[in-house]
Amino acid sequence: MRRKVVAGNWKMNMTPTQAKVLVKSLADEVKGAEAEVIYCVPAIDITTVADAIRSTDVKLGAENMYYEEKGAYTGEVSPEMLVDAGVQYIIIGHSERRQLFNEDDTVVNKKVLKALEHDLTPIICCGETLEQREAGVALPFIEGQIKAALEGVTAEQIKKSLIAYEPIWAIGTGKVATTEQAQEVCAAIRGVLGNIYDKETAEEVHILYGGSVKPDNAKAIFEQPDIDGGLVGGASLTLDFAKIVNYK
Ligand code: PGA
Repeated sequence: MRRKVVAGNWKMNMTPTQAKVLVKSLADEVKGAEAEVIYCVPAIDITTVADAIRSTDVKLGAENMYYEEKGAYTGEVSPEMLVDAGVQYIIIGHSERRQLFNEDDTVVNKKVLKALEHDLTPIICCGETLEQREAGVALPFIEGQIKAALEGVTAEQIKKSLIAYEPIWAIGTGKVATTEQAQEVCAAIRGVLGNIYDKETAEEVHILYGGSVKPDNAKAIFEQPDIDGGLVGGASLTLDFAKIVNYK
């Protein structure tokens, strides 16, 4: 039985001062939650949030990382820095990074391998554009993203990783995928994992849905058989996040 996971993706929001206030205001609400709770925060907030969640069950994630160990990469953050600061999860391949920062499948794959090498759990994102959905090519496109991202990833490693299906047309738009659409793609992703590895391995992988998850739609989405929780953007910045965590 896979435990539900609810991860907040703060994106480029929250100063360290604001982060402290938000984490404090959510603390009692997410305490003892049945779901695993993760805050994925901007690099500048990592130390503050690590301190604020110390001695709670909440886990810390980062939103970006470079795939080299160290050196002349001005502005980048290394996996070793993240681990040392208390980070356990790392979002990789988010559509905003793919679209706005030109991260292609090769970069995504390098980051996934590097994260795993450092025992960081990757939250590997995939998802189609509206044009691709309307053209009926969403599933093969996502299959390609998954296969490319997982090149060289072992069965033991994928079991510990998370995949997030985030249709680009549903991110930050208020336009949520229907539960059927979300389930269909998440089941297809599990099928792809079954082909790359084996069925038993695929059954162990947590697959999240992301894209306008809100308190009023979380339950229906999270109760789908192949959906193991959510990656939450906008609603992770308010007390709504606690309602999503406690969706039942
Ligand atoms: P949203 O973002 O919940 O604001 O749609 C989700 C995401 O991009 O991870």
